[in-house]
Amino acid sequence: MRNLNETNLTDAVIAALSEAKDPRFKEIMSSLVKHLHEFIQEVHLTEAEWLRGIQFLTAVGQKCDDRRQEFILLSDTLGATTMKDIINNLKPHGVTEYTILGPFYRSDAPELPLSGNLAGEIAGEPVIVKGRVLAPDGTAIPDAKLEVWQSDSEGFYDLQMERMNGSALRGVFRTDADGNYLFRTIKPAFYPIPQDGPVGQMLIAMGRHPYRPAHIHFMISAEGYQPVTTELFVSGDPYLDSDAVFGVRESLIVSFVRNDSKEDAQQWNVSVPFYTVDYDFVLQPT
Ligand code: BEZ
Ligand code: FE
Repeated sequence: MRNLNETNLTDAVIAALSEAKDPRFKEIMSSLVKHLHEFIQEVHLTEAEWLRGIQFLTAVGQKCDDRRQEFILLSDTLGATTMKDIINNLKPHGVTEYTILGPFYRSDAPELPLSGNLAGEIAGEPVIVKGRVLAPDGTAIPDAKLEVWQSDSEGFYDLQMERMNGSALRGVFRTDADGNYLFRTIKPAFYPIPQDGPVGQMLIAMGRHPYRPAHIHFMISAEGYQPVTTELFVSGDPYLDSDAVFGVRESLIVSFVRNDSKEDAQQWNVSVPFYTVDYDFVLQPT
């Protein structure tokens, strides 16, 4: 270990892990060292660039607190979260695809009855979201749990709203005996991911915008099936092909069908125009 050079240094660092007790930790760290060394060599990292990288990572850490996770945002915007999600959630064709959880999930959302209103008093264009939760063979899944959360019509989640005590635009529904779910809500908007920190600066330097296309989040679970975390995206959104966190999947883009009929609106107790979304979720048996 005395005559280290660019050819033998990587092996020396990996060899220094020989006493590591946890074999998985050893495997991960050895691979990390290998790729890190290759990266430094490939871009021929200078002293100033190395220091800039250290300062950036320091700023990312300093931006974190119990409400803000800048490291996860970094992972999200570099596609690392989605790569991890893809390799860990491969599903047969026809099963609802997984996509990014994001920072705005809360496990304490209120239980709402079927056809309940997710939006409560929050104003926006009314939407009826309905469909079924099914097994891959089309069998209905009764009593499936749908945890739902979304932004308001300006792109803000309850966790970002000032003067918001309690929760808004989130709720838990259960499918009926035929696997049906139905709820009222408002049309979500596209919104920027938090951009007032070092990740926002990184996006600017990369020539990227911070927007996510409009979507509604779902976490769906049922006894005997693998749970899925997913989102439904509003078709026609300008950011569907440039999501800042790479979460869009073709199979999750849905039409919000506009309805101007006063009669139909009365039936749902909403104003015109309103929108309807029909989407069946398919869960994989465990
Ligand atoms: C979201 O969709 O809520 C989200 C996902 C990743 C980063 C920021 C927000
Ligand atoms: Fe979101």
